[in-house]
Amino acid sequence: MSLYPCIYQHGKIKNTVVQLLLFTTLLGLSACQQTQAPYIIHFSHSVDHTTPKGKTARLFAQLVKKRLAGKVTVKIYPNSELYIDRDLIEAMIWSKHKTIGLMGAPSLSDFIHYAKPLQAFDLPYLFNDITDVHKLVDSPIIDKMTAPLAQHGIKALGFWDNGMKVFSIRGAKPLTKIPADFRGKTIRIQNSKVHYEMIKVMGGIPKIMPFKKVYKNLGLGVIDGQENAWSNIYSKKFYEQQDYITVSNHSYLGYAVVINAEFWHNLPADIRHELKTIIKEVTKANRRYAAKANKQDREAIAAIGSTKIITLSNTERKKWAHRVKQKVEAKFSSEIGKELLKEIHKTLDK
Ligand code: LMR
Repeated sequence: MSLYPCIYQHGKIKNTVVQLLLFTTLLGLSACQQTQAPYIIHFSHSVDHTTPKGKTARLFAQLVKKRLAGKVTVKIYPNSELYIDRDLIEAMIWSKHKTIGLMGAPSLSDFIHYAKPLQAFDLPYLFNDITDVHKLVDSPIIDKMTAPLAQHGIKALGFWDNGMKVFSIRGAKPLTKIPADFRGKTIRIQNSKVHYEMIKVMGGIPKIMPFKKVYKNLGLGVIDGQENAWSNIYSKKFYEQQDYITVSNHSYLGYAVVINAEFWHNLPADIRHELKTIIKEVTKANRRYAAKANKQDREAIAAIGSTKIITLSNTERKKWAHRVKQKVEAKFSSEIGKELLKEIHKTLDK
């Protein structure tokens, strides 16, 4: 049995389901093609329209409508209406369609099977804050980290922020003491081996679960808590089910903007050029949206008042980091690449 039994495995049965879904999706959607632009992009994502990712996707669609009218149509599907993110990635891999593109911005954790170096983004306490994340994303190292995606027919077009993650929990006590406060607590995580290990080292019980199931399972008590960025906790009302939020800022939640490569390479060069320009512009807007959401959504949760927000002191933060940082990093350094990790640390130290 795998060391990480809950980690989503892409197997034959699953692939057949995704292929069928893809076939029916494209079949159903291709009818629109007759009356719309010759190229259609279906942009699927998992969160609300109001989050940094939701807003950036909408801005992308608006700019494409303005600048590529009659050439490209973008249709947005929020809240996993079309796919949950890991199925979107599989659908992209399977799609050989040249005029219908599948696009999205899955969380970096969702690329676990397709680009192991991207697991570095999941490492706890690698980044002190978003400025650190931008140092890495804006450096040439990022091309090395996404290179394996090409073998799977996925083209990476950019990186969007959500924010640093905090923990939320139901119960009589907030998560402040590590490992004592985590003991016996089931914490929902994304599809990430790094997060799985991190929660174990913190003393808790990790539970991998798709984002769309989190609210319900918090309510049912299947999970006690979860880790996420402020905009997701606010827009999905996770706070309704949680007594405490600990401002731990222990790791980063961000996205790789991706599209199926076959579609991308079939596009005329001028359209590709314009799409790249638009992605650059909306990425700048995304950083503004994320910075604003991290402040405003936190304030909104505080104002509602049903969830107490606890900020870790510097000493506590150091204790948390001391317990998990090196242990987790050592476990994944070979998979991520030891040389690559050295380069990442050098870039972050600058
Ligand atoms: C999560 O699963 O918590 C996030 O990946 C959701 C998202 O897309 O922000």
